[in-house]
Amino acid sequence: MKKLNFIALLCLACSITCPAQNNQLILREDNIETVIASMTIEEKVTLLVGGPGDLVPGAAGYTREIARLGIPMTVLADGPAGLRIQPKREGTDQTFYCTGFPTSTLLASSWDPELVETVTTAMGNEVLEYGVDVLLAPGMNLHRNPLCGRNFEYYSEDPLLSGKMAAAYIRGVQKNGVGTSAKHFAANNQETNRLENDARVSNRALRELYLKNFEIAVKEGKPWTVMSSYNKLNGEYTQQKHGLLTTVLRDEWGFDGIVMTDWGVKDGTVKSAKAGNDLMEPGRQVEIDRILAAVNEGTISQEELDRNVRRMLQYIVKTPHFRGYKFSNKPDLKAHAVVARKAAEESIILLRNEDNTLPLKGSEKVALYGLTSVDFVGIGTGSGEVNTKHIVNMQEAMTAAGFTLDESLVEYYRACFATQTATEKMEGSAIDKRHRPEPTISAKAIERQAQHNDVAVVVIGRIAGEGADRAVKDDFELTSIERELLQNISMSYHKELKQVVVVLNIVGVIETASWKHMVDAIVLPWAPGQEGANAVADILKGKVNPSGKLPMTFPINYMDILTSYTFPYNWEMTKGRKGERKNVDYTQYYEGIDVGYRHFQSDPDVEVSYPFGYGLSYTTFAYGKPSVKATADGIKATVTVTNTGKVTGREIVELYVAAPSGGLKKPSRELKAFAKTKLLAPGESETLTMKITAYELASFNDEHSAWETAAGTYQVLFGASVTDIRAKASFRLSKSQSWEVNDVLGTIQITE
Ligand code: GLC
Repeated sequence: MKKLNFIALLCLACSITCPAQNNQLILREDNIETVIASMTIEEKVTLLVGGPGDLVPGAAGYTREIARLGIPMTVLADGPAGLRIQPKREGTDQTFYCTGFPTSTLLASSWDPELVETVTTAMGNEVLEYGVDVLLAPGMNLHRNPLCGRNFEYYSEDPLLSGKMAAAYIRGVQKNGVGTSAKHFAANNQETNRLENDARVSNRALRELYLKNFEIAVKEGKPWTVMSSYNKLNGEYTQQKHGLLTTVLRDEWGFDGIVMTDWGVKDGTVKSAKAGNDLMEPGRQVEIDRILAAVNEGTISQEELDRNVRRMLQYIVKTPHFRGYKFSNKPDLKAHAVVARKAAEESIILLRNEDNTLPLKGSEKVALYGLTSVDFVGIGTGSGEVNTKHIVNMQEAMTAAGFTLDESLVEYYRACFATQTATEKMEGSAIDKRHRPEPTISAKAIERQAQHNDVAVVVIGRIAGEGADRAVKDDFELTSIERELLQNISMSYHKELKQVVVVLNIVGVIETASWKHMVDAIVLPWAPGQEGANAVADILKGKVNPSGKLPMTFPINYMDILTSYTFPYNWEMTKGRKGERKNVDYTQYYEGIDVGYRHFQSDPDVEVSYPFGYGLSYTTFAYGKPSVKATADGIKATVTVTNTGKVTGREIVELYVAAPSGGLKKPSRELKAFAKTKLLAPGESETLTMKITAYELASFNDEHSAWETAAGTYQVLFGASVTDIRAKASFRLSKSQSWEVNDVLGTIQITE
């Protein structure tokens, strides 16, 4: 009897102290429906609106906890070039620096999805080990115009290259069991008036360009989340556009994650929740009130509410916080710095190399010019910036690589940097733009330096970022001081029969045609992250053979670009104007699909300075006879590449297709596949295989609201760039095919 009593007592005690045993409901992966059924309306609505948090200082936002049900808070943090959190915290000497990896435009310049996946596998590890659940990246809006302030966070003017890079980025991060957020969905191609601008885009341009990269990323990367953009699209905020967030993203593309807003509150919270925007970030009480009221009055149905809640719970059960992962706060930053350096080395582009100026021998005495040689631009500004321990600059990198630097210049630029007023408010920008007017050096001094040094290396810098677009004057174009500096250096060093090398440490395309002939070599590292300067030095010294190629076009003049006519580069002139301001309150994408090389290649009268897909190497490559064979759902193309030079190197082969004429007007050629060789030794060959489906060949017909692949003969162009075609083939499609889609994106009235 005693024993029985004891057991009874034990059970009674347990039932009081172990709540779980009185079958309290705790969220698990396999009981989401039960949890939904047990949630109160208030709890459901709470889950749809972000809230405050301090789990990870510096994180951008959180989702809310519902302790009763074992639903944890989850942590969301930026950004595309690496995790962005505060490096220091109250009450501890421990630091929380993150690795500043190469920015997206440089990663895209590698044309190497495997490399990108390697980078973001390391990046995702920092997300995991610092206790974050979702990295708010990749940034992947198309480079519609070179002056968009956030282009450094984005990949390319071409949707295929952009989509493939983003998909690889997502796979790498998510390999760590943390999430990503493909952003900013969609048509967020300018920073000017970004919260309100109405992007007015034809369905064809949307489908073929501005949505195509997201389609590839969603289908091939499977991001846990998508971030809707601030702007409107064809008159409706994207975050409230059911056709975009539910019909296209989910019903057509099969996206099964959550959609979150970008960081701000708009009036249409209810419309947003109904459209399929599951999470409002950063989240305000007013949004909870609005959704609650809408549910109570039936404007939001129980089904709609439960649908969004279900998706939130399906997201939450995947997160490290839900799984109780014990993060270390100690990721291996040393190992990640090596990854960052290697990625920069594999992506940097050699634009010019007259008479094999590069590589240098390494023993040269180098006159290193440019304030940016000290104030090196590792990453742009805004939410895409990373709090790194150190950004290596060119003075440090060149010295570490064994070059002897002209000490007078080293001291001069350090002194200038120390006194330089580091910031100036960019009109209309939410973020300080570090402004760095180039200090002058007299022609006399340059003449003297030319006599005492072996080679000149000039670093030109540009910075930009979130909240403001770039300008034409003194930004896209060289400043007068920069131009004079280049002229004087070119004159003095060439008089001494010595060479001039330019390093473009820039966050976006600049004008090059008017000055590139003055110099002997041009290296383009973009904003290459914390280790990028070391990668530049390795390339100057020939330790690495550059293999990057341009992910966008360098035009001769800014106004050669069709989209420049509808880009708000001079929006200050519209200040104070009443009513709808063109390119500020609304932007007409008049150009349709004629963006980048699609325009320049179809209008050969318009020369460019450097074409899409262009990049040099220290070696040379020959392309063999290609073959193109039909497959069950498209074609398989192969081409053999041989290293015909004297040093090892890698070659990117770009496969362009010219569709048969007739029917829809199409660009003269479009990138449909690409591949990069492994490191080939002199004389070594590799056969590259690329596959294209009939759907990937299709163009979008607005009238039929359908993708259409016409029957006929297609030309296949194997290019070292979009203009440098090394091999050709053709194939014939005997029957046309079409894929109808929903006409739900709104149409545009092309008005002045
Ligand atoms: C910003 C950006 C977005 C970022 C978010 C959180 O406004 O547009 O890219 O992820 O807010 O910082």
